[in-house]
Amino acid sequence: GSAYPLKGRKVIVTAGPTHEPIDPVRYIANRSSGKQGFEIAGALARLGADVVLVAGPTIEHTPDGVTRVDVETAWQMQAAVRKALPADTVICVAAVADWRVDAEAEQKMKKTRDGLPNLTLVENPDILAGISIMTTGRPELVIGFAAETENVVEHARAKRDRKKCDWIVANDVSGATGIMGGTENQVYLITEDSEEAWPRAGKDLVAAKLADKIAERLG
Ligand code: C5P
Repeated sequence: GSAYPLKGRKVIVTAGPTHEPIDPVRYIANRSSGKQGFEIAGALARLGADVVLVAGPTIEHTPDGVTRVDVETAWQMQAAVRKALPADTVICVAAVADWRVDAEAEQKMKKTRDGLPNLTLVENPDILAGISIMTTGRPELVIGFAAETENVVEHARAKRDRKKCDWIVANDVSGATGIMGGTENQVYLITEDSEEAWPRAGKDLVAAKLADKIAERLG
C-alpha cells in the first residue's frame, strides 16, 4: 500500500489526564502521563493523517505534524473534541476524571478549627460515549481505551458494549505492570468480532501497530 494510507483522513485523539479544580490552587487529577496517546497521534500523522490531539496537562512533547489543543478539564476536553469534529476516527486515550467538584471555590479554601471542607462531586460528561451515540456525522471508527486491573478482556468487552464504541484497546494497569506512567504497554485489541492479545512492547510500537490497523480498516 501507499506510504501515507491515511492521507486525507482526519483523526482526533484525546490524551493525558484531566485536572478538575477544587479552588484556585487545588485540583483532582490522576496518574496518566499522556505517553500512549501522544505516541498514537504521532504514529497516525506519520501515516499521513490530519491529526488533532486534544491534550490534558502533561509534560509530553507535541509529535511532528500534529495539531495540539491543550485543555485542563473534562468539559474543556469535550468542547475541544466537538469543535474539531467532523472526523473519520476519534480515539479516546485520555484518562478523563470521572468526577469534578460541583462548584470551584473562588478563593483558596482555608483550614479552620470548625471542621473539614465538604466536597460535593458530580459526574463528568463521557466524551467517548457521547461520540459513539452520535446519530448524524458519527465518525466511522470510534476507539476507546480501557485501563483495567483484573479480568481485562471481559471488562473491556462489556465496556465496548456499554459505550457503543467500535473498538476498545484494553490494558492491565495493576500496580506490578509498571504500565501507567511507564514506557511499555501490553494491550488487547477488542473489535466487533475479535480479540487479539498484543505482545508487551514500547508504547511507540503499540501506537504504530494500532495506526496500521486503523489505516487497514479505513481502507
Ligand atoms: O469508563 P472508563 O473511564 O473506564 O472508559 C475509558 C474510556 O472512555 C477511555 O477511552 C476514555 O478516554 C473514555 N472516557 C471519556 N470520557 C470520560 C470517561 C472516559 O472519553 N468522562
